[in-house]
Amino acid sequence: MDRKQELLDKRKSSLVGGGEERIKKQHQQGKLTARERITLLIDEGSFHEIGALVEHRATTFGLEDNRIPGDGVVTGFGTVFGRLIYVFSQDFTVLGGSLSETQAAKICRLMDLAMKNGAPIIGINDSGGARIQEGVVSLSGYADIFFRNTRASGVVPQISVIMGPCAGGAVYSPALTDFVFMVEETSYMFVTGPNVVKTVTHEEVSSEDLGGAKTHAEKSGVNHFTAANDVECLKKVRDLITYLPQNAYETAPVPTVNPFSANKLKQIQTVLPANNSMPYDSRKIIDCIIDDASFREVQIDYAKNIVIGFGRLDGKSIGIVANQPAALAGVLDIDASRKAARFVRFCDSFNIPLLVLEDVPGFLPGTDQEWNGIITHGAKLLYAFAEATVPRITVITRKAYGGAYCVMNSKTLGADLNYAWPTAEIAVMGAKGAAEIIFKREINAAENPNEKWLEKEAEYAELFANPYRAAERGIIDDVILPEETRSKLIAAFKMLEKKAENLPTKKHGNIPL
Ligand code: HXC
Repeated sequence: MDRKQELLDKRKSSLVGGGEERIKKQHQQGKLTARERITLLIDEGSFHEIGALVEHRATTFGLEDNRIPGDGVVTGFGTVFGRLIYVFSQDFTVLGGSLSETQAAKICRLMDLAMKNGAPIIGINDSGGARIQEGVVSLSGYADIFFRNTRASGVVPQISVIMGPCAGGAVYSPALTDFVFMVEETSYMFVTGPNVVKTVTHEEVSSEDLGGAKTHAEKSGVNHFTAANDVECLKKVRDLITYLPQNAYETAPVPTVNPFSANKLKQIQTVLPANNSMPYDSRKIIDCIIDDASFREVQIDYAKNIVIGFGRLDGKSIGIVANQPAALAGVLDIDASRKAARFVRFCDSFNIPLLVLEDVPGFLPGTDQEWNGIITHGAKLLYAFAEATVPRITVITRKAYGGAYCVMNSKTLGADLNYAWPTAEIAVMGAKGAAEIIFKREINAAENPNEKWLEKEAEYAELFANPYRAAERGIIDDVILPEETRSKLIAAFKMLEKKAENLPTKKHGNIPL
C-alpha cells in the first residue's frame, strides 16, 4: 500500500468522525462539531492535533468493528491571542462522544502536557458519559481525569465548556475545574437524569429544567458563564483567557490599550443615594473605577447579593468582590459566601490582585441560613481572604457592620490597604438596633419611648456611623473621595506589585468545607 495514501486515508477518517449523517444531526440540533468548535476557539492556523490516530482497544458488543481514529475526542494545542493553550473537544458524532479508556488516556496526556508546560487547559464537553460497552475501564478513565483535575488545580487555569450532554460522574471533571461555560438549550449537566429522578423521587422534570444552563446559572451556581450558542460561547472563553495568567507562577498579560473615560470621575460621585438605606447597583461603582468596558462578571445570575468578576485597572487584571445593595440589601448569606470564597481562592492561586468594594449590613438572619450552615459557609469566605497572599485592597463605600465587616477583607484579616469613603459607616451594628440594646432601660423609662429611641439612635449614629473612629485607630488607612478612588487604587496596586508573603509551611490548610 502507498504509505502516504495510508496516512491521508487515516487522517480523512479522523476528520469526518462519525460521518456526514451524524454531523448533519449535530448541526440540526444547533450544535457545532468538535473540530468546528476548536477552529473558533483557537487562533487561525495555530491548532496542532495530537492523538488523531488513536483507536480504542475494546472488543465487546460490536466495538471491534467500530473504530474511528481519534476515538471521539480531538486533542491538541494552539494559541489564543498568541498564548499557548491546550484543548480537548469531545466528538458526539463518534459513539456519542462517550469516554472510553483510550479517550481518557488522550485527555490525561493533554493535561500532563499542560501541567509540565504551564498553560491553561480548555475542555469542550459533549458526551453521553462513560462508554457503556467498555464497562469499568471507562469509569476508571474518569477517575484518571479527576485525579489530574485536582493535581492541576491552582497550577494552570482549567476551563470547562459544556456544549451537549454531561451526565453522571462526568459532571465532576467540570466541577473540579475553575470555570464552567454552558450553552442555553443545548447543554445540560446532572448526576442523575430526568428518568432516574422520576423513578426515585416521582418528580417530573425536563433535562433543561433539571440541569440546563439557566438552572445552573441561577439555582446551583455550577455554571459561571452562559451563552446563547456555541459561537458566542467560544468567543466568551477567548475573552476570559485574556484576564488570566498562563499558570500559578506568572501574572496576567497587560494589554497596551486601556481607555478610561474621564466623565466617570463625575458619575461616581452620584452613585450612592442620598438616603443611606436605599439600594443602588454596585456595578455602577465598579464601572466608574476600572478601565472602560473591562468588567467581566462571573456567576452573574447566582447569589446576586454579591458581585464577583474580573476587571482591568490601568490595564492590569484584578479580581473584584463587591457587596450588592441592589439585591437583599447586599447581605452575606450562604450562597454569596460560597460564591465569593471560591473566586477569591482562584484569584489568589493565579496572582490576580483583589479589590473589595464593601457595603454590607451583616449576615442574613433566619433558621434557613442557620440550619443550612451559614456558620461553616461564611467561614469559607473568611478563610479565603485570610489565606490570600495576593495584593488585596478594600474600599468601604457605605455600610460595614458586624461580622460581615470582618469577613469582607478587613484590615486585621490581612488586607494590605483599607480605604473608606466619607459615607462609610463602620460599627458593630446599625444605629437603630444598637440604641435599642444599649439604651433599653432609658428608652423604656422615657415618657415617650419612641422619641427617646430616635434620640439615642442619632447619638449612636453620630459617634459610629462614619469612617473616622476606624481611621483614628488606623483600621482604615485613609478616607478618600469617590472620585479619588481610581487613582488611589492604581497607585496602591502598583506599590503592592512586588508583594511577597509566604504562608506557614504545611501540607495544606483545612478550609471549612
Ligand atoms: C456508548 C453511546 C453512549 C455511551 C450515547 N452513545 N451514549 N455509546 N456509550 N455512554 C451513542 C448512541 O448509542 C448513539 O450511537 C450515539 O451515541 C448518539 O446517541 P443518541 O442516543 O442517538 O443521541 P441522543 O438522542 O441525542 O441522546 C443523547 C443521550 C443518550 C441523552 C446522551 O445517548 C444517552 O442517554 N446516552 C447514555 C447516557 C448514559 O447513561 N451514560 C452513562 C452514564 S454513567 P449511534 O451509533 O446510534 O450513533 C457515567 C458514569 C461516569 O457516565 C462515572 C464517572 C465516575
